[in-house]
Amino acid sequence: MSSHIHIPMVPTGPMETWTGTVNGKQETHLAHGHSILLDVLRDKIGTLGVKRGCDMGTCGCCAVLVDGVPKLSCLTLAFEAEGTQITTVEGLADGHHLHPIQQCFADHGGSQCGFCTPGFLVVSAALLENNEDPTEAEVKEAIEGNLCRCTGYQQIVTSVMEAGKMLREGISGDDRTEPASDPHPIGPDEPSLPPGDAR
Ligand code: FES
Ligand code: FES
Repeated sequence: MSSHIHIPMVPTGPMETWTGTVNGKQETHLAHGHSILLDVLRDKIGTLGVKRGCDMGTCGCCAVLVDGVPKLSCLTLAFEAEGTQITTVEGLADGHHLHPIQQCFADHGGSQCGFCTPGFLVVSAALLENNEDPTEAEVKEAIEGNLCRCTGYQQIVTSVMEAGKMLREGISGDDRTEPASDPHPIGPDEPSLPPGDAR
């Protein structure tokens, strides 16, 4: 019987404790010193909205905000982002109510395939955080690192411009979303099903 010796491509050191705040929640996990942030976010924390597209810094699908600044999580070592405030697409909404950029992507066709959308949303949210009235050129510059393979960029640019308008007019997702229209209510509004119905 032959014995197989597994030789890892990348030498692995011992795991170390990684801490950070992800979407407002303090997280502590074991990670290797060379772990990339993308893997810690997806595999340890479970924020699967962070997408692995190219894994080499060219598509923008994996973008997250690190202390409010867009970063490609596939090119960021987890320990480079240790102790920071990280926001993924899951952290943009206010509870059940969409962030204006999410509302406008839904309303204006910015969300097409869905795979690249989280990256577009977080970089656009960062732009609007600093500039609620961007020009089209500024929007295009902000999203230049994000690839849409179906090339539907115009709807994305329109969505960002419209979200800026919502923010300037002080219209939040809260104002646009009546609790009764929430498709996934919790608490007393949660629909009850007859006993025995699968959920
Ligand atoms: S997966 Fe990070 S840029 Fe493509
Ligand atoms: S909308 Fe995702 S690739 Fe075009």
